Amino acid sequence: MSIGFFNGEFIDIYKAVIPIEERGHQFGDGIYEVIKIIDSKPILLDEHLIRLENSASSILLELPYTIIEIKGIIMEGIHQSGLKNAEVYVQITRGVSPRNHLFPDVSASFTMTVKPSKEIPAQYYLQGISTITLRDERWANCHVKSLNLLPNVMAKQIAANSGSFEAIQVRDGKVTEGSSTNVFAVNNGIIYTTPLTSNILPGITRQAILQAAKYTQMKYLEENFTPEFLKEADEAFLTSTSVDILPIRSVDGKLIGNGNPGRITLELHQAFQRLYVTREVNK
Ligand SMILES: Cc1ncc(COP(=O)(O)O)c(C=O)c1O
Repeated sequence: MSIGFFNGEFIDIYKAVIPIEERGHQFGDGIYEVIKIIDSKPILLDEHLIRLENSASSILLELPYTIIEIKGIIMEGIHQSGLKNAEVYVQITRGVSPRNHLFPDVSASFTMTVKPSKEIPAQYYLQGISTITLRDERWANCHVKSLNLLPNVMAKQIAANSGSFEAIQVRDGKVTEGSSTNVFAVNNGIIYTTPLTSNILPGITRQAILQAAKYTQMKYLEENFTPEFLKEADEAFLTSTSVDILPIRSVDGKLIGNGNPGRITLELHQAFQRLYVTREVNK
């Protein structure tokens, strides 16, 4: 069963709890994380919690609990939900206070949900997904996992309206990332992905994939590339906590390679499963 948590209490996920003057609600003044649970075990939890701390300090937000306490709440939430395969969503905002742009002198709000994982159709992995490119209209601090997702929401909807799974965003002529994914291209056996700057979210899956590439002795470069380079790539794929590695079949209608998932994409997916998922589940 899905379960919720709000400021110290486990609650029914459908119970209305957010006060009108909650700053996440009124300003998007907060940060979040999404963590995948497989066989009741969180995958790459430490990495997600380090990014949560980094996001909080970037927006000068003091976490209401220690990292050890947050881990305890997550583990208790998984236990209470009884779910084996789930997605944990953690959101921390600057708290509840009369609406005023200035920081309030109140404790941060902590919200969590534990819900069944979203089903990704098997054919997406077998056939790859289609994507479009779109101008990146987001702010200058995309490395912060901020609640302000309006441009990402717009981009994802524009992609869906054109029958695509993802919008690959482009800033100053270079690919940044998808609306909720990081982007990789493979050319002549070399794996390329956008370097970590404030233009992209430092994806936990992105980092795990680069480590899997290193471990399996594949060559990779963290380098900017153009949408044209991506379209001419031999292989391309997206990464995120929700999808792991999703092969890209086409970009703006142009097939990537012969359109089918490439060998390196499939090998990386297997290595990721072996190194991260199986390892965590068997801990
Ligand atoms: C903008 C953006 N980029 C990349 C990612 C992938 O990050 P992760 O692998 O940590 O899920 C996400 C995930 O939500 C995202 O929202």
